[in-house]
Amino acid sequence: MSQPAMSHPVLEVSGLSIAFGGLRAVDDVSFSAEKHRITTVIGPNGAGKSTLFNLISGALKPHSGRVRINGVDMTGARPARTKAAGLSRSFQITNLFFELTVAENLRLAAQVLEPASRALLPIRSSVRARVKTQEMLERFQLTHKRDELAGNLSHGDQRRLEIAVCLASEPTILLLDEPTQGMSHTDTAETATLVRALTQDVSVLLIEHDIGLVMELSDHVVVMHQGRKLAEGPPAVVRADPAVQAAYFGHA
Ligand SMILES: Nc1ncnc2c1ncn2[C@@H]1O[C@H](COP(=O)(O)OP(=O)(O)O)[C@@H](O)[C@H]1O
Ligand SMILES: [Mg+2]
Repeated sequence: MSQPAMSHPVLEVSGLSIAFGGLRAVDDVSFSAEKHRITTVIGPNGAGKSTLFNLISGALKPHSGRVRINGVDMTGARPARTKAAGLSRSFQITNLFFELTVAENLRLAAQVLEPASRALLPIRSSVRARVKTQEMLERFQLTHKRDELAGNLSHGDQRRLEIAVCLASEPTILLLDEPTQGMSHTDTAETATLVRALTQDVSVLLIEHDIGLVMELSDHVVVMHQGRKLAEGPPAVVRADPAVQAAYFGHA
């Protein structure tokens, strides 16, 4: 396989489509996400945003269209393969092990950093995973909660831990599906700061409802409506688009 050139977007989606019965949940969607940028997908409930993420991560196979990750065709590749290609995702519904501690959740995620030859050794010998766990605890200000069960954390801390878990496997692309859902105003603001800082290490593909946050955080916005891409561009341009105004901000 040829070496991906530097000029490739980290993620390229072209003509992506899937239907559930008669419902075209994602219908001929194309866009690219650039390296170390925040690309945000917005749209009303049911627009097809989470389904789009499922097609990109490999949780669902598209009926047509292509997905390229770092220039390499990954269309229809299973989640384990897209993960190995550098893609990590969070879910709209939290995906933590509630009965494990904060540190254990991170440690499990970071375990993929260990060479396969160490896979059968006791977990305490996993040096890279241990270092990464510590790094994530500090970066996400969870050090003092390292021994708390994930299930006992506040909602805001759980969503933050979830991002940390995604990052612990050192992905190049991070897919975040509504990371601020159900968060307080303060937690939302903190998460925004965190997500912005993430772009040092990764390219972020974000689904976000809070339009203020979208405007503040995004480098590029893709608007979906009824499965189709309605518009894309810089946040301010997209917001001023009459079609977007009608479909999305219309009643606001
Ligand atoms: N697995 C599925 N089977 C059938 N319909 C689905 C499935 N997943 C999503 N849908 C439908 O596809 C549409 C898009 O859903 P979704 O991608 O979750 O929207 P969004 O994330 O933008 O709110 C909705 O009408 C939803 O009911
Ligand atoms: Mg969704």
